[in-house]
Amino acid sequence: MNAAADLSWACTWEDDVTAAEHDALGALLARCFVRSRTPFGPGRSWSSARPELRVVAHADGQPVAHIAVLRRFLQVDGRAVLVGDVGLVAVDPALQGGGVGAELLARGSATLDGLELPFGYLTCGEQVAGFYGSGGWVRVPGPTRMVRADGRVQVYGGVSMVLPVRAGIERWPAGQVDRNGWEV
Ligand SMILES: CC(C)(COP(=O)(O)OP(=O)(O)OC[C@H]1O[C@@H](n2cnc3c(N)ncnc32)[C@H](O)[C@@H]1OP(=O)(O)O)[C@@H](O)C(=O)NCCC(=O)NCCS
Repeated sequence: MNAAADLSWACTWEDDVTAAEHDALGALLARCFVRSRTPFGPGRSWSSARPELRVVAHADGQPVAHIAVLRRFLQVDGRAVLVGDVGLVAVDPALQGGGVGAELLARGSATLDGLELPFGYLTCGEQVAGFYGSGGWVRVPGPTRMVRADGRVQVYGGVSMVLPVRAGIERWPAGQVDRNGWEV
């Protein structure tokens, strides 16, 4: 099955996302992240940090897949590293397992390349590290320290991953990653 075949894709800057689109995206994210503490739904289409750019697939006018990007500098082993911080990666449960996620990662990668970024970066649970790995993302030791939604600083217990975009993975510095902010 190729569930990605009949989708239309759009790339939208955050200021251009309409209230109706936020509602529809919030509903999509609520369907995809059923155990999240974030109250995704009407008017709430982000978790912690707001993204600046979203890549969205639509079917029959409704969003069915979504990936979001925020450019930022991480501090890695004390050095500033520019990344596209990626999050809110989601495929409608009705379409999962059919290749839409792979297409989403490919389009996310192309978007990071279009922004001329050296690296993509994300944190994720162990259960989806294999998915990102299939899209070219590379697990790095990290760990990542970041500000939680409640304002406390934590060392994230999950997986830290890097996508080599315009720089080779050998240019990624070893050592702890400090996000110094919220995850997307
Ligand atoms: C994770 C998610 C985006 C994957 O989307 P999808 O459309 O099911 O993915 P695809 O069918 O395109 O699969 C792409 C590849 O990833 C693999 N894959 C998919 N989910 C996986 C998982 N959880 N673990 C390991 N590999 C996975 C597939 O086997 C496939 O590999 P292949 O190309 O070698 O065959 C989707 O399951 C989802 O939205 N889940 C809920 C939200 C979520 O957890 N998002 C990630 C937040 S960090």
